[in-house]
Amino acid sequence: MKSEDYSQGEAFQLEKRTIFSTECLPLCAEGQLAGPGAFVSATVGGWSVIGVRDKEGAVQVLRNACRHQNMQVVATPAGNCETFRCRFHGWTYDLQGRFVSAPPPVAPKDPQSPDLHLATLPSTLASGMVFFSLSTLVTPIDVATLPAYGGTLTTEIACNWKVCVEHLLAEHTPSADFTWAWPLLTVRRAGPVTIVEQVVPHTFLRTRLLTHVFGRAADENRQAAATIKHVCETLQADRAAGKQPATGALVDAFHRQLAGAYAQDRVTT
Ligand code: FES
Repeated sequence: MKSEDYSQGEAFQLEKRTIFSTECLPLCAEGQLAGPGAFVSATVGGWSVIGVRDKEGAVQVLRNACRHQNMQVVATPAGNCETFRCRFHGWTYDLQGRFVSAPPPVAPKDPQSPDLHLATLPSTLASGMVFFSLSTLVTPIDVATLPAYGGTLTTEIACNWKVCVEHLLAEHTPSADFTWAWPLLTVRRAGPVTIVEQVVPHTFLRTRLLTHVFGRAADENRQAAATIKHVCETLQADRAAGKQPATGALVDAFHRQLAGAYAQDRVTT
């Protein structure tokens, strides 16, 4: 990898086209959508999406792009609501993303048109997580049994998402107790506890790490999450200065996948 791949927006746009628009991506832990109306919103690899549990208890993943003028409908990262009301001009959608109403001055000509609904993305639940895709959903990681969900920690890290993935992979080899799901998820089992680390590429220099803890309270991982943040921000400075990451079987596999995606972009653009 070149140092600019870690520090410039061009590589992030390439990754948005070739990785984040095609792969099966994690959105949140299913436990974060605890009851009807519970939602999370996030920008994952440049795509703004909402995960919500509808009134029937099913999980929906919607594009967070209003059908009026394509603006972001939901701006808060999580909450609970009965409907989604766009903050710009008041178009309102139900929990399945269906258009409900709009104030008269901005009302659509045909309120029955299906084109007014928020786009629903293919999504699935596996291993206690919600996965989605901007294209066809592929089978996500499946860890047979997880202990009870204990909560999620959110850590904002000033680094490129690849630095965070490399750090999570660097100390591990594939084993029964450690699984990596390309591109953004690792699962680590330690006795009765399972830690699912979900990397959320927000911008090319901002990454959110969601640490989902199963088998004990999430708070017990707070120090470990702070350490990951500190190490990743140090590593980011190393990458920007041209230092290469430490190698290892999983880091090498990650780079091969990235190289394949970059090569694919050169063929199609
Ligand atoms: S952009 Fe959403 S109501 Fe206008």
